[in-house]
Amino acid sequence: MNLRTRFGLLGVAALLFAFDAAAQSKFPGDGGVNLDVPYVPTPQTVVNRMLNMAQTGPNDIHYDLGSGDGRIVVTAARDFKVKKGVGVDLDPVRIREANANAKTAGVTDHVTFFQTDLFKFDFGEATVLTLYLLPDVNLKLRPIILDMKPGTRVVSHAFTMGDWKPDDQDNVEGEQLYYWVVPAKVGGTYEWKIGADAYRAEVFQEFQLISGTLTGPSGQAKLLNTSMRGVDVKFDASVPKGGAPVVMHFAGKAEGDKLVGTIEFAGSGRTQVTATRVK
Ligand SMILES: C[S@@+](CC[C@H](N)C(=O)[O-])C[C@H]1O[C@@H](n2cnc3c(N)ncnc32)[C@H](O)[C@@H]1O
Repeated sequence: MNLRTRFGLLGVAALLFAFDAAAQSKFPGDGGVNLDVPYVPTPQTVVNRMLNMAQTGPNDIHYDLGSGDGRIVVTAARDFKVKKGVGVDLDPVRIREANANAKTAGVTDHVTFFQTDLFKFDFGEATVLTLYLLPDVNLKLRPIILDMKPGTRVVSHAFTMGDWKPDDQDNVEGEQLYYWVVPAKVGGTYEWKIGADAYRAEVFQEFQLISGTLTGPSGQAKLLNTSMRGVDVKFDASVPKGGAPVVMHFAGKAEGDKLVGTIEFAGSGRTQVTATRVK
């Protein structure tokens, strides 16, 4: 029985009560500890899909928060060849199982399991983060995850991150999966020049969603067709140029206080630009 079904059988009112209770109280673990999330393992086909969704590979450092018997960490090391895998679980029984599973799979050189509270654990080096927790736990982790390196991939089994909409989702054997890429922090005012023409973009950001306005030499336009994945930013704007509106495409990367990329006006070539955040 998965975590959703386990609560789902209780009905909606009881579900809300259970989540509320979960926010305040704890679940008894097998090793005499109180847990924020009860132990329910992710089925192996779902584990594989979670790691596939994140395009996990040999350059990755993978962390599973609340790693249970270590199956996601072991699979990432054995089958996806991550360079390092880390699991953290509060329950010592789970840690013993995880270490035994890593040994059987022959991946002990690549994985480490820590018996500690995930809220007191630094997982900042992860490039792929997997979670099978609960909604309130995800929400508590959200600000920490949003402060991780832009481009970090996050997959959650069953539960969302509140109003931070996923970049992708899937359903495997009835199990819902959500995928996010940690967005760069790009909100602000940027300025750049193309020849003698000065441009200014006001960029507003809510998670990975961006909006705003562009002011050019001949007027102002809304940013259109905006998209952001990690550090990759794109937007268009229909700018007045020579009396008629011309569509301008920007595609580039957020690099600290700069947006570095190219601008293309419909019908003409690409120009390299570096837009600098001035506020
Ligand atoms: C739903 S299970 C998921 C196990 C594994 N990630 C999987 O998908 O198969 C949640 C796990 O989180 C662990 N856990 C609960 N609260 C924790 C906490 N505060 N710190 C670390 N681990 C915790 C539990 O012991 C349990 O193994």
